[in-house]
Amino acid sequence: MNTDTPLDPRGVDRVPVGPLLSIFDPVYLGIDEYGHPVYLPMIYRNILIGGEPGSGKSSLLNTIVAHAALCPDVRLCLLDGKQVELGLWENAADVFVGPAIIRAITTLRRVQTVMDNRYAYLKAHRRRKIGPNDVFGQILVACDEIAYFSATAGDKKEQELFSALLRDIVARGRAVGIIVAAATQRPSSDIIPPSLRDLFAWRFAGRTTNDVSSDIVLGHGWYARGFTANSIDPNNQGEGYLIAEGGTPNRVKAAYLTDADIIRLADYAAYIRRPKPDPNEWEMAA
Ligand SMILES: Nc1ncnc2c1ncn2[C@@H]1O[C@H](COP(=O)(O)OP(=O)(O)OP(=O)(O)O)[C@@H](O)[C@H]1O
Ligand SMILES: [Mg+2]
Repeated sequence: MNTDTPLDPRGVDRVPVGPLLSIFDPVYLGIDEYGHPVYLPMIYRNILIGGEPGSGKSSLLNTIVAHAALCPDVRLCLLDGKQVELGLWENAADVFVGPAIIRAITTLRRVQTVMDNRYAYLKAHRRRKIGPNDVFGQILVACDEIAYFSATAGDKKEQELFSALLRDIVARGRAVGIIVAAATQRPSSDIIPPSLRDLFAWRFAGRTTNDVSSDIVLGHGWYARGFTANSIDPNNQGEGYLIAEGGTPNRVKAAYLTDADIIRLADYAAYIRRPKPDPNEWEMAA
């Protein structure tokens, strides 16, 4: 007797297939002041997110990580001294570093080695940068609250080493598909050396406590030209100014993922990234 069920004519019994993105697709960030969608091309670029406590930095970082997590061509390397902001993505990440500065340094050293090896490969093949569907995938290094690693945990030597490694990855990682997204409450020189801060192609300033802090994120002189993140309503979390190299700041309201959204996306991302069985092994077992 055939116990199989007939196909549902409405097609509802199909296996649901989730969206697969690529890091070569721009990341959906939110809407601008006219309600138009804002997309951020992240490949070959880095982003620095600044703003006062509660301005929506971690939420924006989560939106960027969410896009990357759904991209099978990106591996995630997450650093979060607070643990809970990026912790929900742990199962989808290659590395998750909590409040452990030595582990953060070791992880950045590994990323640096990967970067050097990739450049050696490109040079050997007489190429200057990687492209889509290249031999190696991309890596997103996401770091929430840089200050924890660069100014709080460990001793001065370790903090400086962390900052130097991060600066090297931000400066040289782009052409070999290593992208950095980092957040900080205040990107002043005691937290991030200006030589590191100025390397970020994209900067997002959530509400800042004063005009000077806004200029620190967006770049010197924007307050004088009428753009200050201090003008953002404190109750309007996720709103901020986004600026790209050589551009003008644009007002953006970032999209927001609730914890339930993140858990659902992270579970799906972990599922699509699970280790696949080796077909040769199956053959041998048969
Ligand atoms: N885009 C957004 N839309 C609506 N609400 C938001 C948005 N972003 C953040 N929020 C709200 O603001 C709260 C604080 O956001 P978030 O934790 O991202 O701030 P933060 O800048 O990382 O703060 P901290 O500096 O303390 O880490 C969130 O819990 C959420 O309720
Ligand atoms: Mg935060």
